[in-house]
Parts: sequence; C-alpha cells; structure tokens
Amino acid sequence: MEITLDTAQKLLKTGEVVAVPTETVYGLAASLQSEAAIQKIFQLKGRPSDNPLIIHISEANQISSFAADIPDDFAALAKAFWPGPLALVIPVIPDSVPSIVRANLPTAAFRIPNHPIALALIRQSGPIVMPSANLSGTPSSTCRKHVEADFGDDFPVLDGDFCSKGVESTILIYQDQRWQIIRQGAIPSQAFLSILGYAPEILYAEMDKKPVCPGQKYRHYAPKAKLHLTQHFFANNNEVIVGFSDRTYPNSARFISLGDSSNPEFAAKNLYYALRTLDEEGIESALVDVNFPREGLWNTLWERLQKASCK
Ligand code: TXA
Ligand code: MG
Repeated sequence: MEITLDTAQKLLKTGEVVAVPTETVYGLAASLQSEAAIQKIFQLKGRPSDNPLIIHISEANQISSFAADIPDDFAALAKAFWPGPLALVIPVIPDSVPSIVRANLPTAAFRIPNHPIALALIRQSGPIVMPSANLSGTPSSTCRKHVEADFGDDFPVLDGDFCSKGVESTILIYQDQRWQIIRQGAIPSQAFLSILGYAPEILYAEMDKKPVCPGQKYRHYAPKAKLHLTQHFFANNNEVIVGFSDRTYPNSARFISLGDSSNPEFAAKNLYYALRTLDEEGIESALVDVNFPREGLWNTLWERLQKASCK
C-alpha cells in the first residue's frame, strides 16, 4: 500500500516498519531508536538473528557518534561513493548501536543511500536500519509490487518506482590494513582502485569457516523456480529461457530478457525482476544464460545467480 513520506515518518516514530526505495533494492526500515521495530524486521523477513543489519545515515559525519575507530581511507571512500551503493563495516562504540542490529558483533555496517525518498526519510527520522525488503532467501525487491508480493498488499510502502541499480550495495570491511569486499554488489572491485590505490580482494565464504559477512552463509536470492545456469542451448528444448535480447536461442516456452549482453548495468537492474517473474507466472524451472565475462559488475551477477540456483 503506497504511503506518503509523512505517514512513513509517523509509522517509524511509533515503532512500525515501512518499506523504502533505495537505488539498490527496496529496504524494510525501522528507526535505529526502536528495538521493538527492529525485532519486527527479523520476524517479518524470517531472518536469522545472527545476520546483522546495515545502518542507513544521511550525512557522513553522523559516523562520529558510532565509530570506535575510523579506518584508513574511510573518509576518501565516503567522499567518493556516498551517497551510493557502498556499505562500510567499522568497529563501533557498543552502546551506540543496539546489539540486535549488529548481531552482537563489535562492528556495524553503514551506508548513505542515493535515493531522494530514502534520504528525505532519514533526514526527518534519523538513522534507520534496512535489510532488503524480501522474505529471507528470496530475490530482493526492486519495485513496490515485489514488496507487496512478499508482505501483503496492505504493507506500507514508499513508492520510488524501479530501483536504478537493482542489486545490493557492495560491502567493504577493513582488516589486516586493507579494505576487503565481503559482499559483491553494485560497485565492482576495480572502481576502488583510484581511491585506495588497490582493488580490494573479494572474500568468499568458505564452507567450514565462519564468514566475515554473516549473510554469506545463508541461501539467498532464490526464486521458487529451479534455475539451470548454462552457456549451451540445444534446439527445440522448449524450456523457459532467461537470457539476452541480442542473442538467438532455440525455441523456448517463454523468453525473459535481461537486456543486451553488452550492458551489465541493465542486466543487474533487471535480474531480480526476471527471477520474480518466473514465480509470478508459476514457472517451475528455467535455463539462465551465463555466457558473460567473470569480471566487474558481471561478477556480481554471476555470484547472485549461483546463489539463486542453489536449493
Ligand atoms: O543495498 C543494500 O545494502 C540494501 C539496501 C536496502 O540498502 N540492504 C541490504 O541489506 O542488502 P541486507 O540485510 O539484505 O544485507 C546486509 C548484509 C548481510 O549479508 C549482513 O550479514 C551484512 O550485510 N552485514 C551487516 N552488518 C555487518 C557487519 N557488522 N559485519 C559483517 N557483515 C555485516
Ligand atoms: Mg538481503
């Protein structure tokens, strides 16, 4: 249900949860001041309590009331990428962030979203926590329709139309004197080179180790439909195909486009929409064309598709 900014602010103030558009994906917002609302977020999403939330702020200098330590190059990263799809994990003063938000970790993740509606809400209401506005494990929401599909038509949503990036923020943590990527996202590793002097290493979750980014151990982004990732399409297989509009495929039962195969930004913007379309249409399985480079933003798409195809 579409609500106004004023209503959203009132709901946050009274300990309610509202959905908010950002440039990456829609978020489920609660005031950082309201532990009851934050608990509600975990319940609504079915989210494990050991998976911490990102704190969304509107000005970089708000960090000073939370940070126990400001790592090297923090200011340069914030200046270059905020507002934008970058979340930075830093050590925090324990009393400044409720432990439920940080899942008892000594750190918390922060970002300034680049969306006028999200920014206006944060300016009015103060810092908010926002996980992606989807049921845990399913594809994130990139428009109001997706949020309502997961949480019901009456769920309060600030409508910001389609998200411009379509995949979540890139998350960096400072460890061993370097920034490292603990979740790939809308900003590719190479984009940090000119700011940091190096491209941060991507830390992948290992099977038998506790991941630095708790969210990495959970099933993610998966539609109900079974996805088969492939680079080979055989004639007349009559399957549903998620692929690229500039390619020809054999006869398919249904074709869902990610756009042109030379445009990773467009593919990212369409990815979750495509995955959710499969479920909306009751499709049980689909072939997904993964014939694209394993670099830059494509790498983020590859990571999302690999997770989305795991059952
Ligand atoms: O683009 C985004 O970041 C979106 C929009 C709404 O801002 N939010 C989002 O939140 O993707 P969520 O909760 O779906 O994913 C947050 C990820 C989780 O994998 C979580 O484990 C990780 O951030 N995270 C949060 N705090 C952390 C911390 N202190 N240390 C390591 N990882 C953390
Ligand atoms: Mg999420």
